[in-house]
Amino acid sequence: MIQNIKIIKALIIVFSLSSTFSANAQSVEEIIKGRKAMFSENYQNAKKIAILLKSKKIEEAKPLMKKISENYKKLLDYFPENTKEGFKTEALPSIWESKDEFNALMQKASDDMIKLAKAIETADDLKKVQKELMWSNCSACHSKFRAPH
Ligand code: HEC
Repeated sequence: MIQNIKIIKALIIVFSLSSTFSANAQSVEEIIKGRKAMFSENYQNAKKIAILLKSKKIEEAKPLMKKISENYKKLLDYFPENTKEGFKTEALPSIWESKDEFNALMQKASDDMIKLAKAIETADDLKKVQKELMWSNCSACHSKFRAPH
């Protein structure tokens, strides 16, 4: 009887460990795919913003700016140590070598989208503020932290 209880306990430990391991393996995939999806969404929204601002649809562009800003903030948590490779990631090792710099660029990109939503209310040159507060942040980060693609 006692023997049986010991075996059952051992089995419970084995099962809970194996489910922990598979949960971890899945979450690396989820994290990498999750961050790719957020960057893609940001790109789609950035292109929509460019189109909207071309026809001076300022109020319609603002919620998209807020959405991009929020995605950037979420992305701060999408680069843990165990997601350096796999699942076709284009993240470079420099991210983890210069994590503070990377996070600061992400935070700046987020803050700049909020500034952009304000700036378009009064800016004469909408293309110029978009470049300064949106597109320049993409290239500043990609040039150092994303693999050529
Ligand atoms: C602070 C850094 C940073 C900023 C800012 C940034 N990116 Fe990226 N981006 C990355 C990294 C790192 C990857 C690679 C992610 C991966 O493959 O795991 C990436 C990947 C992408 C991808 C590919 C997603 C996929 O499906 O593989 C696109 C598209 C993209 N970025 C567009 C943009 C655009 C457009 C902007 C600006 C509006 C931008 N990014 C701003 C760091 C940044």
